[in-house]
Amino acid sequence: DASDIEKGTYPHYMLKEIDEQPVVIRRIVEKYRTENGGLTVDKEIIDAVNSSDRIYIIAAGTSYHAGLVGKQFIEGWAKIPVEVHIASEFSYNMPLLSAKPLFIFISQSGETADSRAVLVQIKELGHKALTITNVPGSTLSREADFTMLLHAGPEIAVASTKAYTAQLAVLSILAAVAANGKGQSLEFDLTKELGIIANAMDVLCGQKEEMEAIATEYLSTTRNAFFIGRSVDYYVGLEGALKLKEISYIQAEGFAGGELKHGTIALIENGTPIIALSTQEHVNLSIRGNVKEVVARGANPCIISMKGLEEEDDRFVLPSIQAELAPLVAVVPLQLISYYAALHRGCDVDKPRNLAKSVTVE
Ligand code: G6P
Repeated sequence: DASDIEKGTYPHYMLKEIDEQPVVIRRIVEKYRTENGGLTVDKEIIDAVNSSDRIYIIAAGTSYHAGLVGKQFIEGWAKIPVEVHIASEFSYNMPLLSAKPLFIFISQSGETADSRAVLVQIKELGHKALTITNVPGSTLSREADFTMLLHAGPEIAVASTKAYTAQLAVLSILAAVAANGKGQSLEFDLTKELGIIANAMDVLCGQKEEMEAIATEYLSTTRNAFFIGRSVDYYVGLEGALKLKEISYIQAEGFAGGELKHGTIALIENGTPIIALSTQEHVNLSIRGNVKEVVARGANPCIISMKGLEEEDDRFVLPSIQAELAPLVAVVPLQLISYYAALHRGCDVDKPRNLAKSVTVE
């Protein structure tokens, strides 16, 4: 659809694509929905997943970060062990493969050369591959045995936003349907939760002034910024840091809260912005402990928590959603904060220096 690739009234594709996320999530639910309201994935894909003894997720960049969260869905719900690998490292660090491996390639473009090199290698070994991509007919889709589409519509901005949340949604559906196929049912209704998530994204997209204020307050002059979290919040922090560095050129890094004391805390100076995520009850106290440690060393904390876990000084509170799916919602403010930080620093938001939308060289 041509209108999909028009910016319309938006100043940047990135902002438009962030705003499209609720629609994309609802579209994904429609595409993977059965007539009686359940979710479905091609039987041959579910058979491939459920007959494998270990899944190897291969991806790069933002798609790799989606893979880290996807591992939690698949292991937690379908009870199949998952390893997540950076595509460019896989060929020389190939792990010992299990007896019945299944490879899942996650790639917005379906063209990333590093991922394709792994696909060629594992096909030569006779293994099966599923590609999760936004682009039907892309190289990784054509060369894999199976494809699941993201249905996110064209993503034009170099920094990936709606493809990431679409990847998480599709991975959650894959994991849930695989779990069902094994006779295990989730403790919640995924269709319903994805609807709640889309609504929460709408709310967040309506809070742009707040995100802009956070960007101004924490990121207008800083040289660096750190994102911390535990459990899945750590993975969202990695993605938040990647967004920020890609488009604002602020040196940004994501860390596991517990690792701070093993080195990173040496980098904390007076005023260093620390964006801390707390969406998971089981690690809430620990991450807040980490925030206290960095504040004692002068850091400027920006705590983003989830409703129900919030405390008085939190800078932003996310709407409450099913904890395991929190990354789909928690990433949205990070995308918006990065956008405004880059905008205020005069950066070319949609076409950051030195980066390409799809990297077709190894
Ligand atoms: C490039 C893009 C990133 C993207 C990565 C992987 O580096 O700039 O935004 O995450 O490639 O791309 P893929 O299309 O395989 O998801």
